[in-house]
Amino acid sequence: MSGLQGKRILFGITGSIAAYKAAQWIRELVKEEALVTVVMTAAAERFVTPLTFAALSGNAVHRDMFDESPDRVMAHINLAREADALLIAPATAQTMARIAGGMADNLLSAIALAARIPVVLCPAMNSAMLAHPATQSNINRLRQFGHHLVQSGCGALACGETGDGRLPEWDAVRERLLGLFQINDLQGKKVLITAGPTREPLDPVRFLSNRSSGKMGFALARAARRRGAEVTLVAGPVTLVDPPEVEVIRTTTAEAMAAAVLERAPSMDVIIKSAAVADFRPTACQPQKIKKTQQGLSLDLIKNRDILAELGKRRLPGQLLVGFAAESQNHVAEGQRKLREKNLDLIVVNDILGQQTGFDVETNQVTLIDRKASQTLPLLTKEATADRIWDKVLLLCGESPVHDE
Ligand code: PMT
Repeated sequence: MSGLQGKRILFGITGSIAAYKAAQWIRELVKEEALVTVVMTAAAERFVTPLTFAALSGNAVHRDMFDESPDRVMAHINLAREADALLIAPATAQTMARIAGGMADNLLSAIALAARIPVVLCPAMNSAMLAHPATQSNINRLRQFGHHLVQSGCGALACGETGDGRLPEWDAVRERLLGLFQINDLQGKKVLITAGPTREPLDPVRFLSNRSSGKMGFALARAARRRGAEVTLVAGPVTLVDPPEVEVIRTTTAEAMAAAVLERAPSMDVIIKSAAVADFRPTACQPQKIKKTQQGLSLDLIKNRDILAELGKRRLPGQLLVGFAAESQNHVAEGQRKLREKNLDLIVVNDILGQQTGFDVETNQVTLIDRKASQTLPLLTKEATADRIWDKVLLLCGESPVHDE
């Protein structure tokens, strides 16, 4: 189940060429079972027809402040009252100026003025318009009102220029929306998470690695950020995009991952090691590509240092240390052994032979083992699993996880 399921999103669309992207965002919201109602400004209608958004949202589009039909009188009050969040995307310089100035001269700005719900704005415009002191001062004012401004992107703009002002990516907006509906129970905590595999080079083109996709670790990072933590993610070589508002350090080998983790560990409150670190590496990386021979090939391997065990030895008072265990048999016994030997507070054991658990799938089923008890969770998405792991971490910190439902 997505955190957006059942959430009522009032989606304001304003007059920018980026209005066409709102169509895809509405599809994404509907896919996650959010309930979307669209409000368009007159300028937005010059770019995309209301029919498009009515068809995609499954609801009539609101455009007129003075609509006399009985169910639409006082629409600016009722729509804001009936929604969980107001998302304005694209948000033009004009609409932001209206809202920053407290104007209520069209339906959307009147709704923004009447809204007691969170307001999320996604600016999209030419770089010069965005950089203009008037727009910047409006953005600051909107922030002072407590509105959420999603950072616009940088790149090719519709006007032919390159620079700031692109509509933010949906991923960043989705994270911001999810964060609105989550209590900040990890606020004030600095957390470090590792994710993905490592690659141990054999020669310039070959390496030893494993099937870890990084999905579990990235889900932990996103969940922690949504819950208010300051997050550092040390990732091995994976193809996943950086989670918004997370410091991401990309590494390749186990040794590089160890250096990145051990350097940052002393300032962290919680460390979760979900990376699948190679236990061994070739004794040497050959400078030239290894040639095919008739005889086959033997590799000399040496052991990599165990980063988690090292963290267990060096950990500071009050720091919470969580490991993962990828097991194919004797899950609980193996988990308990690693918990003890690596001096951990919690170990998350997953079955790597299951079709829907472990490496490179969207779901996981894990057993959480601490020093007193163990608990097996149901099969869940990695996103939901991540939240359950953070709930457990909070309990081990002596705090209670907070849920809004
Ligand atoms: O990335 P995904 O495709 O989403 O898959 C997720 C996962 C299956 C990789 C993840 O859920 C998982 O189980 N990660 C740990 C995999 C692993 O290396 O397990 P292990 O039992 O070999 O290691 C135990 C712990 O020691 C792990 O926390 C590991 O990060 C750590 N370790 C291991 C070796 C080493 N040299 N240094 C370490 O820190």
